[in-house]
Amino acid sequence: EKGGFEHFMLKEIHEQPDALRNAIRGRLDFNLGSSVLSGMGTSARDLAEISRVVMVGCGTSLHAGLVGEYAFEDLADVHAEVQQAAEFRYRNPLITRSDLVVAISQSGETADTLAAVREANQKGAFVMGLCNVVGSTIARETGRGVYLHAGPEISVASTKAFTCQVAVLLMMAVKLGRGRRFSRDEGIRLAREIESLPELVEKTVRQSDKIAGVAQRYAQNEHAFFIGRGYLYPVALEGALKLKEISYIHAEGYHAAELKHGPIALLEEGTPVVALAIDIAGKDKTLGNVEECRARGARILGVVTEGDEEAAAFMDDVIEVPRCHPLVATIPTAVALQLLSYHIARHRGCDIDQPRNLAKSVTVE
Ligand code: F6R
Repeated sequence: EKGGFEHFMLKEIHEQPDALRNAIRGRLDFNLGSSVLSGMGTSARDLAEISRVVMVGCGTSLHAGLVGEYAFEDLADVHAEVQQAAEFRYRNPLITRSDLVVAISQSGETADTLAAVREANQKGAFVMGLCNVVGSTIARETGRGVYLHAGPEISVASTKAFTCQVAVLLMMAVKLGRGRRFSRDEGIRLAREIESLPELVEKTVRQSDKIAGVAQRYAQNEHAFFIGRGYLYPVALEGALKLKEISYIHAEGYHAAELKHGPIALLEEGTPVVALAIDIAGKDKTLGNVEECRARGARILGVVTEGDEEAAAFMDDVIEVPRCHPLVATIPTAVALQLLSYHIARHRGCDIDQPRNLAKSVTVE
């Protein structure tokens, strides 16, 4: 049932090109430069009335929402924010009927996310689900939304659901954007990039053995930092979450600019810092932060754009991801970090598919 893979997690990482293909299939319109997401059940007029997108979710799904924030603001020119689902529920959020609330949940059963859906329904918002499990409670209670079609995710650590969530959020942002400032040409360009995701991820997954070699050099450490800026900031948070949950290494994700406001005090000789320094806006600043870490003795593992020797020169070890649109690049970058965590946990002999203290779906608050 693991299809020849040692763990479900590794199988699901390798399934991502197909999972993305299924999430994208039939949903890109190259004529209009837009996307077709019929489950959203909205007319262009409904979409034009949306003044804000509020995403809610937990854990990895929350991190996908953080990428979504950038996508909605940059592509769709609409205010967007993501809230931890429990926080949304208890803070008495300001929600109006022109808000689109998107509940992001792989399982569709997470208690806090479900409660947030009910709260948003009470407040008369436009509520949608972004779920993987068909017919799940959140999918039913939202009544509209978009399924990921990522296929069953067995491993407790979420991998293919995350990348498909981000891909679907990008398509939602394109759709919303086309009703605003986003031009047909820009839409077509981005649709092409989204269409190439399976291939981009395939290239990244093919580096699994190489990443395993890099992972060996980091498997004995007890602490690690992940840093990134802009679109890569949420990916840094997700990389740290993945590493801590399956390898039990204490990992922290930070905005690269935030390091010197405290966390840098923790760096010692040999402390690993995973720097997301692919070639997008902010790279030079991140490289500056890498220098600051190196000056404190940190060992730097850089995730860089294929062929970017300038960035690679700052790093002790390097993982490369293919060059692509900056928002799209969040996906192969996340895949590289999934493989890193997997191989580190494997070197440490951890129970990868069933990490201690964790359940696949959290149905209590
Ligand atoms: C981490 C992980 C969890 C889930 C979270 C939300 O790898 O799997 O953080 O992302 O429990 O679950 P869903 O998406 O099912 O609501």
